[in-house]
Amino acid sequence: MSPAPVYPVVWRDGHVLLIDQTRLPAEFAVVEIKYLEDMVRAIRTMIVRGAPAIGVAAAYGMVLGAREINTSERNEFLRQLEGVAQQLRATRPTAVNLFWAIERMLKTARQTIGSVDHLQTVLLDLAQVIAADDLQTCQSIGSHGLKALPSQPQQLRILTHCNAGALATAGYGTALGVVRSAWQAGRLERVYADETRPRLQGAKLTTWECVQEGIPVTLITDGMAAHCMKRGLIDAVVVGADRIASNGDTANKIGTYSVALIAQAHGIPFFVAAPLSTIDFQLPDGSKIPIEERDPVEVYQVGNTVLCPAGVEFYNPAFDVTPAALISAIITEHGAFSPSQLQTNLYNLQA
Ligand code: MRU
Repeated sequence: MSPAPVYPVVWRDGHVLLIDQTRLPAEFAVVEIKYLEDMVRAIRTMIVRGAPAIGVAAAYGMVLGAREINTSERNEFLRQLEGVAQQLRATRPTAVNLFWAIERMLKTARQTIGSVDHLQTVLLDLAQVIAADDLQTCQSIGSHGLKALPSQPQQLRILTHCNAGALATAGYGTALGVVRSAWQAGRLERVYADETRPRLQGAKLTTWECVQEGIPVTLITDGMAAHCMKRGLIDAVVVGADRIASNGDTANKIGTYSVALIAQAHGIPFFVAAPLSTIDFQLPDGSKIPIEERDPVEVYQVGNTVLCPAGVEFYNPAFDVTPAALISAIITEHGAFSPSQLQTNLYNLQA
């Protein structure tokens, strides 16, 4: 029997169901989100996380916020909708999909003629389109990724960092979408999952998804990747992205840059898998990508265990930027491109 697909963000009967990613793998729990403020909290606290998934969640957050606006006057509705957008924009700074989805929702509301009731319906329809499109997009990324992977060996060992799977998207995943497609095509021997300190999305979420699907997975700590490459255990690296600048510089989970450097040192291809909605053509390069800094507790504590003595200082950037020169190809729903080809091939295709 094939495993049940994972959909982390679902609209059902007037509210949103989120898989609570802070409780996996110990517990599979679904949280009901009925109000804008709950969605804002869910994104900020990473109940829902991963760039495309927070884009979808933000779109539904706009729907919930729009339904809470108590006016039948169109201009007043649009004014208050901007306030809803502002609350959602302030949740997390790095993943551009969040801003992309919010702007798309706002633009459609402004361009739609009709009553406030009609606008609210149109916003729900659009959020559902954004979710459905993301799922399809991930499946296309999977097929293009399969073609981009090295042709030898036949059975690949793929290293990934963080979680860019079904949980991080509307379903199927970007980097793990490529892995899934390789698995279904009989081209995958196993996945190596970096644990991904400090929040351990690799250990907790990527391994969970692989186990659900029966994909062989080996968990390593972040510091083991170079050793594994040197030992010849890795044939390719595939990671997701939170924001890609026009020149291909790519922000992804902290530690991705180190993986790219060691992959290059060992002659191992390094792929980024991401939808067009993750490319920020406003930014010429990665230097201006905002990097989220999170609570130091993520660094100094694991579970209930404090890791270091009092008096230590902390730094907790959640993302880093991998220079385009280290990236073999960026795999999108429109094909795989070298970083330098992004602008010419994809700029005109943006929604
Ligand atoms: O902080 P997170 O867990 O939201 O970070 C997630 C990542 O860095 C993912 O690799 C990225 O969003 C791509 S998800 C398809």
